Amino acid sequence: MRGAGWGARPVLAPLLLQLLAGAALCAPASPAAPPRFNVSLDAAPELRWLPVLRHFDRDKLRTAVVRVIGDRVPKWAHAVIEKVAVNLELFLPQPFTGEIRGICDFLSLSLADCLLANLAYESSAFCTSIVGQDSRGHIYHGRNLDYPFGNILRELTVDVDFLKNGQIAFTGTTFVGYVGLWTGQSPHKFTVSGDERDKGWWWENAIAALLQRHTPISWLIRTTLSESEDFETAVSKLAKTPLIADIYYIVGGTSPREGVVITRNRRGPADIWPLDPLNGAWFRVETNYDHWKPVPERDDRRTPAIKALNATGQANLSLQTLFQVLSVVPVYNNYTIYTTVMSAASPDKYMTRIRNPS
Ligand SMILES: *[C@@H]1O[C@H](CO)[C@@H](O)[C@H](O)[C@H]1NC(C)=O
Ligand SMILES: *[C@@H]1O[C@H](CO)[C@@H](O)[C@H](O)[C@H]1NC(C)=O
Ligand SMILES: *[C@@H]1O[C@H](CO)[C@@H](O)[C@H](O)[C@H]1NC(C)=O
Ligand SMILES: *[C@@H]1O[C@H](CO)[C@@H](O)[C@H](O)[C@H]1NC(C)=O
Repeated sequence: MRGAGWGARPVLAPLLLQLLAGAALCAPASPAAPPRFNVSLDAAPELRWLPVLRHFDRDKLRTAVVRVIGDRVPKWAHAVIEKVAVNLELFLPQPFTGEIRGICDFLSLSLADCLLANLAYESSAFCTSIVGQDSRGHIYHGRNLDYPFGNILRELTVDVDFLKNGQIAFTGTTFVGYVGLWTGQSPHKFTVSGDERDKGWWWENAIAALLQRHTPISWLIRTTLSESEDFETAVSKLAKTPLIADIYYIVGGTSPREGVVITRNRRGPADIWPLDPLNGAWFRVETNYDHWKPVPERDDRRTPAIKALNATGQANLSLQTLFQVLSVVPVYNNYTIYTTVMSAASPDKYMTRIRNPS
């Protein structure tokens, strides 16, 4: 027995290694879907998240909020928001404040804490978004959401169908307790994702802009999904509405050439970068740097994404190949919390997968 075992080793070992390597390569390709919930917009803002919240451990949710604030919010910002929270509630837009109020009542947290947690996610998100058009004119849109201390957030990631009159009005991916959307789809109309554009002094600028009634970035994505009738009006709204911080919005439509990267300043657009498939630009890649500038060498996710798309070829672009591109290291990295691929013309194919599960 022993002899046979040793004798077989030279053959078996490489085979085993291959199998193991295969398993390792396959691991990122078959990650889990997050839970999916309905949230009814016909219910009062204060109540509509309660059926979702009940699926989660209350203590875990509270811990997540406290942890995010502790890690991300400077002490002075906490003090400022605590002072003005009651006033903010009066002029921040609905349904967001009503929803936040309902969630924090359920969690027995203060309104200031829930508001801050909702704002905290607006800073420090590193992401990759891609919009592209295949040879037949179909539009595909994908994104990785990368964020530090993702372990809690992975467990809180959900896909949500927002219902109006019992029909899906729009779909998005978010963290439980977070009422904005970084990723979403208005069926048969358009898809949107946001990537952070950090210009420094984030909290100082954001709070000042908030007091001037500018909108949080992820709230505008949700409002646009809820209200805009088509790709054109969505792009216009995302480009012009005053925001609390700079951002990149990536938008995909349903018809050929409907794909764009909007580089935003707080007050308006800095740049609009559409697909230009007739001139070979059948995709646009946006990470966290202005597309007209080189990326820093220490964080180049742009070049590997472009290489992978070039290797895929326009004829082979699909939600599946886009997911593969978003799985290439370092486009996919240790901070990646989820990957979503979507195509507004085929809303049923909206797909999110949790990455790096522990
Ligand atoms: C969500 O709402 C849709 C549309 O009304 C319905 O078909 C589906 O069964 C609901 N899903 C859950 C999990 O309640
Ligand atoms: C991708 O392909 C385009 C067009 O052939 C080429 O100009 C570009 O250099 C390629 N980029 C990378 C990173 O391979
Ligand atoms: C596209 O896919 C086909 C079939 O899978 C394959 O034969 C072809 O090489 C691919 N094209 C590119 C450019 O990768
Ligand atoms: C994650 O981090 C480890 C340790 O730094 C590194 O070896 C590994 O390549 C990283 N994985 C990815 C997907 O970036």
